[in-house]
Amino acid sequence: MKPSTTTSASAILGVGHHVPSKVVTNHDLAKLMNTSDEWIVQRSGIKERRFIEHSGIGASDLAVPASNMALEHAGLSAGDVDAIVFATLSPDHNFPGSGCFLGDKLGLPGVPALDVRNQCSGFLYGLSIADAWVRAGVYRHVLLVGSEVHSTGIELTDRGRDVAVLFGDGAGAAIIGPATRPGQGIRSIELHADGSGAKELWVEAPASAYAPRLTAEMLVEGKHFPAMNGKQVFRWATEKMPEVSRAVLARAELTAAEVDLFVPHQANLRINQLVCQKLGIPEAKTVANIEKYGNTTAATIPLGLSEAWREGRCGAGSHVLMAAFGSGFTWGGAVVTL
Ligand code: UT7
Repeated sequence: MKPSTTTSASAILGVGHHVPSKVVTNHDLAKLMNTSDEWIVQRSGIKERRFIEHSGIGASDLAVPASNMALEHAGLSAGDVDAIVFATLSPDHNFPGSGCFLGDKLGLPGVPALDVRNQCSGFLYGLSIADAWVRAGVYRHVLLVGSEVHSTGIELTDRGRDVAVLFGDGAGAAIIGPATRPGQGIRSIELHADGSGAKELWVEAPASAYAPRLTAEMLVEGKHFPAMNGKQVFRWATEKMPEVSRAVLARAELTAAEVDLFVPHQANLRINQLVCQKLGIPEAKTVANIEKYGNTTAATIPLGLSEAWREGRCGAGSHVLMAAFGSGFTWGGAVVTL
């Protein structure tokens, strides 16, 4: 561990991403359940998503290439990582956390690894932790990952179709460390949760609240698959994402017009179109890759930022707004100058 000696601003020094090679189109899903390309595109904007190629690939496996890409982008190597923060709702195993598996795969014995369980807002919760650690001088370089394998946990049948068509597998990573240029840095972060909505989007079992945690009946009833009240989540998301975006912009003393790139969580293209309308941010300045990847929950923001950075849609000095809403309910926003 190399503790930081400064209390300067923290910044995103590099980003990376990785998605599995297996493309699953809406037409492929329509062979498994009563759905259609038309319904999925109209309701969500999704055309295809990625699924892991075979059993045995966990969230930590997808995180390895994403982390290496982020390290290379930052001009660092694995040995420079002082701490890992791993955001996921689909950990490789119930415990230990995926951060431990990732640390081992990157060859980082002794480096602390913290898992964050905040679903679609997980990356922003992790960003807040990494930012505080770097600014306080606790750790110098934090590897922050959002990675998900959904395909092994969704019900690819008529019963599960409302949720199954939305999710995909993927990973994104960022290196958080001390800012190196004037003006660069994480300018504001705001996080929220409201557990009154906990059961509107959840996986009920296995559950420590039940003895036994999982029964054959629960499996038959599909309690181990995600269940969602889509309309309720939609309503909350379209209210809370603009609200938290305005709050973080105000704290960063920036206007919506000064945002160079908006990276919203990718749960539904229609949600993000409404959010952009409410904020007055043009869609041309907004990341939209849900068409290709579906909803990769904790991975959507780093994945979207990594693609946009590589496409030249942002770079040193760009003001980037991020916002997410999801299961918990949890939501958050951040403004970062790259
Ligand atoms: O990242 C986590 C946060 N998640 C979200 O933000 C998701 C928020 N919610 C949504 O994005 C939307 O609510 C959905 C895309 C999930 C659903 O869109 P909707 O316009 O709210 O549709 P609905 O749930 O009201 O369903 C409309 C109809 C229903 O049939 P009836 O009752 O009208 O006969 C559903 O049974 O569509 C049916 N349906 C489907 N049809 C074809 C539900 N899923 C499917 C499907 N294919 N996959």
